Amino acid sequence: MKKRRRRLLLFVMVCAAMVIGYSLFNKEESTTIPPKQAAADGTTTQDGGELSGDSDAETGENAESEAPAEAESPAPTDESKSGSEELPSDQPSHEGNNAEGEEQTEDGLVVIAQPADIAVLVNKQRKLPEEYNPSDLVYPDVRFIFSEKVEKRKLRQEAATALEKLFSAAEDDKVMLAGVSAYRSHSTQQKLFDRYVKRDGLVKARTYSAFPGTSEHETGLAIDISGSDGKCAAADCFADTKEAKWLAEHADEYGFIVRYPEGKEKITGYQYEPWHLRFVGVDLAAELANSGETLEEYYDAVPVTQ
Ligand code: DAL
Ligand code: ZN
Repeated sequence: MKKRRRRLLLFVMVCAAMVIGYSLFNKEESTTIPPKQAAADGTTTQDGGELSGDSDAETGENAESEAPAEAESPAPTDESKSGSEELPSDQPSHEGNNAEGEEQTEDGLVVIAQPADIAVLVNKQRKLPEEYNPSDLVYPDVRFIFSEKVEKRKLRQEAATALEKLFSAAEDDKVMLAGVSAYRSHSTQQKLFDRYVKRDGLVKARTYSAFPGTSEHETGLAIDISGSDGKCAAADCFADTKEAKWLAEHADEYGFIVRYPEGKEKITGYQYEPWHLRFVGVDLAAELANSGETLEEYYDAVPVTQ
């Protein structure tokens, strides 16, 4: 009898020990649940933010990847700061392609922040602000293939003065030039472009005519030039004329560049236009003449492919 009682007591003690041990073990485990699991279960992230969406609550996957990533990543401002510090010092810093203050619009184009800059980069990806009108347009004192005093005879002051010197120097070399088309307002470029699209279709028209807002002619810094007889004005045959050869050789001395050179069509986005001169200032024109770069290459801009 005594023996039976002792066995019973032992059994009770073993059971009691098991119950205590089990409850102690469970308590330990509940305090070591990692916070991210708590987030999945309790819909609260580590930083206290509410998780949104049913999928977070159901799987916990998003909660796991979102919360720690936020906590571990360096602050974005640090990243962008160090990125800009690493830019090579010889990167062009001219305001003509200054990305500061420039935003991409819904049509994928960037609105130029400094449209009046002499070295401004205007192309198929970079358009002038809609309300932009150059403030210092004048009539350069040079020959044109027409006699009317109209808009397309105008250029910005600095470009006009430089053009007069260029025409005079050409004449000294017995090369008689004439202006064909200089400044165009936004609405003139619109009418012109629409006419070309009607005639040749959009794809073809875009290889030689700029979409309104993206033409250098709207800056008052560009001019199409021909010989004084007006033959081959803005036409392919101009390339073989002595006037075209003179311009290719000397335009940079007066601050102009042949903006759409042969062989660079995929970079500029336009066919070869030996007649389209763009004023950029003497220093930049000399630099581009030496390097053989287009404005896009100079600014390290994305090539314009179509
Ligand atoms: N022909 C040039 C690309 C223009 O239309 O501005
Ligand atoms: Zn032109």
